[in-house]
Amino acid sequence: MPTVLITGGAGFIGSNFVRHLLATDPAVQIVNFDALTYAGNLANLRDLDGHPRHTFVRGDVTSRDDVRGAMQRGVTDVIHFAAESHVDRSIHDSGPFVRTNVLGTQVLLDAAREFQVSKYVQVSTDEVYGSLGATGLFTEETPLHPNSPYSASKAGADLLVQAYQHTFGLPAVITRCSNNYGPYQLPEKLIPLFVTNLLADQQVPVYGDGQQVRDWIHVLDHCRGVEAAWRRGAPGEVYNFGGRCEMANLDLTLLLLKLLGKPETLIKYVADRLGHDRRYAIDCTKAERELGWAPQVKFDAGLAETIGWYKANTAWVATIKNKDYLSYYEKQYGKRG
Ligand code: NAD
Ligand code: TYD
Repeated sequence: MPTVLITGGAGFIGSNFVRHLLATDPAVQIVNFDALTYAGNLANLRDLDGHPRHTFVRGDVTSRDDVRGAMQRGVTDVIHFAAESHVDRSIHDSGPFVRTNVLGTQVLLDAAREFQVSKYVQVSTDEVYGSLGATGLFTEETPLHPNSPYSASKAGADLLVQAYQHTFGLPAVITRCSNNYGPYQLPEKLIPLFVTNLLADQQVPVYGDGQQVRDWIHVLDHCRGVEAAWRRGAPGEVYNFGGRCEMANLDLTLLLLKLLGKPETLIKYVADRLGHDRRYAIDCTKAERELGWAPQVKFDAGLAETIGWYKANTAWVATIKNKDYLSYYEKQYGKRG
C-alpha cells in the first residue's frame, strides 16, 4: 500500500490531485505537506476533514527537518507540487521562487534519496521551454529556455531532478504541463481572476495586445497525467501534458464576457507583462503513447463547469478576494481592474 507525500496539496492543482487520488484509489495513503503560503488554503481541503487516508502536515519544503519529519510517516513515494507559481510575483521578487522552487526541490530530493522512495514525481511546467513563435509545439526534446524568474527557477529544479536521477539512480520522472484551469484556482491567474471580476461587474486587465497564446487544460486532466507518470512513467523520462486547446488571451476574454453576459466595456487594456512569453503549445503524443493518457475534458464544458463552481462558491471567493492577492501587478504597473 503506497504512502504518498504530496507537497503543495493545499494549493490549486495539489488539492485537486489529493481529492482525485483518494476518490480513485482505495489503497493509497496521503501525507499532504504544505507551508500554507498566501496560495495554500485549508478551505481547499475542507471536504476531506477527517478522511482516514489523508493526513495534513504543515511544513516548508526548504526545511530539512520539516521534510524529514513528514517522510518518517512511512512515505514510499513523493509527488512534488509545492512551488511559488505566479509569473507576475516572480517579476516583482524572485527570492521566494529561488528558495522554494530550487532549494526546496534539492531538500526534497535529498530526503527522497535517504528514504529510498519507489518513485519521485517532479511537477514542472511547459514554461521551462520558453516561448514559441506562431508555429510549432513544445516536445520533450525542446531545449530549456526559461524567460521569467518563475520558469528559470522551475527549470533549475528540473535540472537538479535529472542530476539526482543520473548520479544516484533516484527513480524520478518530470511532468511538464500547460496552463491549468478549474475549481480552487486562486484568482491571481487569468481565468479565475477574470471570472470573479466579471461576476462582480469589475473590469478585467488584458496585458499588452492580448494576442499571447496559451494551451488550456482542465486541472483534472493534468491530475490524471501526473498520476499516470507516477504509476507508469519510466525513471529519467519527461512527459508533456497539454489540452490541445490554444487560445489567444483576448479571444478567451471575449468568450468569458459572452458566457457571463457582460459588456466589452469591462475590458481594460493595461501595460504588458515584462518579458511576456508570446505563445505556449504542447505536443503531448509521448504521454498518449507511453502512458495511455489523453486529455478528456472539452474546453467549453470545462469552462462552463468552472464558471459554475465560482458562482456556487461565493464564500470561498469572498475570503480570497479580501486578501492582498492582486498587489504584485499593481506595484509595478499601477491599479488594474
Ligand atoms: P499554487 O500556487 O496554487 O499552490 C502552490 C502550493 O504550494 C500552495 O499550497 C503553497 O502553500 C505551497 N507552497 C509554496 N511554497 C511552499 C514551501 N516552501 N513549502 C511547502 N509548501 C509550499 O500552485 P498550482 O497552480 O497549484 O501549481 C502547482 C504546481 O504545478 C507548481 O509546481 C507549478 O509550477 C506547477 N504547474 C502549474 C500550472 C498551472 O497552470 N497552475 C501549470 C503547469 C505546472
Ligand atoms: P497566468 O494565468 O498568469 O499564467 P501564465 O503567466 O503562467 O501563463 O496568465 C495567462 C496569460 O494571461 C498570460 O499570457 C498573461 C495573461 N494575463 C493577462 O492578460 N491579465 C491578467 O490579469 C493575468 C493574470 C494574466
